[in-house]
Amino acid sequence: MEPRSEEISPETQAARFKAILRARPGWRLVAETRQGRPLGQVRFDSDGQVSLALDPGYRGRGLAAPALRAALAWARRELKRTRAVARIKPEKVPSIRAFEGVGFRLLRRAAFRGQLCLEYEISLEQFPDGRTAARTEKSRG
Ligand SMILES: CC(C)(COP(=O)(O)OP(=O)(O)OC[C@H]1O[C@@H](n2cnc3c(N)ncnc32)[C@H](O)[C@@H]1OP(=O)(O)O)[C@@H](O)C(=O)NCCC(=O)NCCS
Repeated sequence: MEPRSEEISPETQAARFKAILRARPGWRLVAETRQGRPLGQVRFDSDGQVSLALDPGYRGRGLAAPALRAALAWARRELKRTRAVARIKPEKVPSIRAFEGVGFRLLRRAAFRGQLCLEYEISLEQFPDGRTAARTEKSRG
């Protein structure tokens, strides 16, 4: 399929995004710059899968692991999740490094929709609570 380049109105964009949200229920956390500009998202699907995507303009700056860490702390705290899993294609090196960097461990290699994927998991039982970390930083400063 050829990539398409087309002008999309904000209304069309909003309608498409709503359709995506309906089709894939779960949680999406948006990471923002200090100025409130969105720079990426972490998605928690209802089946426990977590995935991460950053705006191409913000990649390569070491933001993937901190965004993932903050989102996992939130999922543990707010959703009471005790475990998260991720499916990553072997060629996605930055993604693999980011997930391994926050503590995900390789579970198995498996075919998913006809493509080889690495399945990772992490236990959130001992995962640091984001709030505790924030309080610790504050009391130091
Ligand atoms: C996956 C993604 C979020 C990573 O974000 P990023 O900004 O590119 O990565 P970071 O700059 O935070 O770096 C993460 C790690 O990858 C390494 N890395 C970054 N770019 C790399 C490259 N081109 N080649 C090899 N390693 C690379 C970094 O050195 C870092 O490793 P380290 O912590 O061991 O030093 C981003 O590439 C993305 O949005 N990709 C598209 C969506 C996607 O593929 N998601 C994965 C499915 S869940």
